[in-house]
Amino acid sequence: MSVSVYAVNSLKNYCLSKCRIRRGHQVYQEVCAACHSMSLVAFRDLIGVAYTEEEVKAMAADIEVEDGPNDEGEMYMRPGKPSDHFPSPYANEQAARFANGGAYPPDLSLITKARHNGQNYVFALLTGYREPPAGVSVREGLHYNPYFPGGAIAMPKMLMDGGVEYEDGVPATETQMAKDVVTFLSWAAEPEMEERKLMGFKVIFVLSLALIQAGFYKRWKWAPVKSRRVIVDVIN
Ligand code: HEC
Repeated sequence: MSVSVYAVNSLKNYCLSKCRIRRGHQVYQEVCAACHSMSLVAFRDLIGVAYTEEEVKAMAADIEVEDGPNDEGEMYMRPGKPSDHFPSPYANEQAARFANGGAYPPDLSLITKARHNGQNYVFALLTGYREPPAGVSVREGLHYNPYFPGGAIAMPKMLMDGGVEYEDGVPATETQMAKDVVTFLSWAAEPEMEERKLMGFKVIFVLSLALIQAGFYKRWKWAPVKSRRVIVDVIN
């Protein structure tokens, strides 16, 4: 019984629904993007996945991108295009460390693949903040989180109930936001995942038909041989 419940749950997790990716993107955009870059993801990647082309164009146009050089050799600023990648909150790693007390908020593009058991890990990390147990003291500027290796993380607790307001009316509880943002991060890390799994399913299905056929063919070809009877007739 428990096995089948587990199977159903993991099946559901594999299905990255569009609404969840969209909500997760909203959480990333409104909360995580203040510190974390996702430099491998371009705005256009979201088209057809969580947003329409018009929405993505409008979203991209909200940011300013440095481009150039122009005819006069100058760099200039222009509104973003769907082909631009997500902007980084900091100019470079040093600036990021300086703003975060020496800790570096890693790029989140591949984070669910970069950590063991990535989806569960990030979910547990985001929702795992609590008071340190008696006898454990955490250095100034760090936060107790048993899911982070070492137990003290420089990232403060970011998700509180009602932290964002979802446009589809889903209550933005801490766990809901964590789940949505993890879905978004998993999609970003493996955008081809669903297609790949579907392809795998099709290939295995077709191959199993071919296997049945091969079985029949073999029996058919071997039938005369297998059904042959050798009669030893001794002539006296
Ligand atoms: C105030 C800045 C800030 C915000 C906002 C923020 N983080 Fe972080 N995050 C950090 C810092 C700093 C670290 C590095 C922690 C360390 O090394 O101790 C970090 C680390 C992480 C890690 C990596 C942990 C590891 O195993 O190395 C993940 C995953 C993460 N953040 C996810 C998120 C998500 C998801 C959000 C949005 C819900 C978010 N963060 C919002 C600052 C932030």
